[in-house]
Amino acid sequence: MSNLTKLNVLMCGTGEYTTGWTGSGASTSDKKIGVVGLTMFDLRRLGKVGNLGMVGVNGSKFPAIREHLQDKIGNAYKDMDTSFEEFPKQGKVDPEAYKEAINKLSPGDAVIVFTPDSTHFPICMYAIERGLHVLVTKPATQLLSHHNELIAAAKKQGVVCFVEHHKRFDPVYSDAKARAATLGEFNFFNAWMSQPKSQLETFRAWAGKDSDISYYLSSHHIDICCWILQDKAVPTRVVASAATGIATSEPYNCVPQTEDTITLLVDWQSLKSPKHKGTAVYTASWTAPLKSGVHSAQHWYYMGEKGDINVDQAHRGYDITVDDTGKTWYNPFYMKYSPSETGHFDGQRGYGYTSIETFIDASREVNAGTAKSSDYDGHGYPTIANTVLTTAILNAGRISLDEKRPVGIKKSGDEWILE
Ligand SMILES: NC(=O)c1ccc[n+]([C@@H]2O[C@H](COP(=O)([O-])OP(=O)(O)OC[C@H]3O[C@@H](n4cnc5c(N)ncnc54)[C@H](O)[C@@H]3O)[C@@H](O)[C@H]2O)c1
Repeated sequence: MSNLTKLNVLMCGTGEYTTGWTGSGASTSDKKIGVVGLTMFDLRRLGKVGNLGMVGVNGSKFPAIREHLQDKIGNAYKDMDTSFEEFPKQGKVDPEAYKEAINKLSPGDAVIVFTPDSTHFPICMYAIERGLHVLVTKPATQLLSHHNELIAAAKKQGVVCFVEHHKRFDPVYSDAKARAATLGEFNFFNAWMSQPKSQLETFRAWAGKDSDISYYLSSHHIDICCWILQDKAVPTRVVASAATGIATSEPYNCVPQTEDTITLLVDWQSLKSPKHKGTAVYTASWTAPLKSGVHSAQHWYYMGEKGDINVDQAHRGYDITVDDTGKTWYNPFYMKYSPSETGHFDGQRGYGYTSIETFIDASREVNAGTAKSSDYDGHGYPTIANTVLTTAILNAGRISLDEKRPVGIKKSGDEWILE
């Protein structure tokens, strides 16, 4: 690995997930200092990453972002350089600054996209067409047709394109996947994921307009279910239902079409046994109670022919109670922010970190000619090709809500389509 060249990386989006900085200041969620920026600075310290850039829309935010990163990362960990090249420059406002930033890169460099859901497709396509490796956050795209286009473009260019489904790197989930494989035919899956109502204030700019809570949260467990069932069963039909009334009322006052809680009911067909069919229920909510002690409640249940699996990812037997704030369940297995005994960043084993590092390693291997981008499709990684059914289910769910009807999913030639 040490002979591989360093990867130059452009981070697209300068928001909560990249920097921990939100429009209203430092994030108060569980991502106070972000995930992508911190991981990139650490991988640069460790010699895997070369030049770093960051592109947003409003260049005037960069002084505050730099100060925040220096304060929370540069001053918190030893040997951590938080510098990067910014776009748009000189405080300009430009929603297409990503093009200028991408044009400055060379084929074989990489782009990590954490921007609003509706912008993923144009940014990823622009980068892939220029021979760049791409890591895009979930949901990869909102439309299945766009997902299919990204698969084809990445294949044509021979670049690595992963969707940042970090839960595939959680040791509990990957262990559960291996155990599910021993339980015979799939029968039933039920997932719940929620965030407190206060998130409606954080998400007010796009909630109900640009995306919905199913795309935002159910994408995680739909992907895990698709991963567990890859090559075993396929989804055939989606019916969606939504609870409403909280997001659109005081004090949140989101736009009238905003749902509170979305449930997708999905039929699955076994690929080996025509008589075995399964049912999955994926529910996500952003109107869960405040002060529940976790930022994201998240649990799921899997039942197969010969047994079942229960995962409660929010409560892992580690809780802390403080007089002022009460009881909180932390998850350092995702991002460990406390420093090592030597004062360095110590979260390299967190699945939030390894998910991004795996993409960096894959891109460097492909650049060195020691792997082909298509190799990663065979490894169960969240490549753009391996995640197509996740987008198919999410897109079908949105159509089902909008058109109040069941939506079919089927294969036409090599491509998955909705009907
Ligand atoms: N916050 C989280 O916990 C989290 C977790 C996983 C995935 N995500 C995903 O990451 C994406 C962004 O989420 P976030 O919470 O960081 O959002 P955010 O609102 O905090 O940040 C979005 C960023 O995207 C930038 N942006 C918007 N349009 C752009 C464009 N045309 N070009 C370049 N930059 C542009 C904005 O300037 C802003 O910096 C979403 O798709 C979300 O689903 C977020």
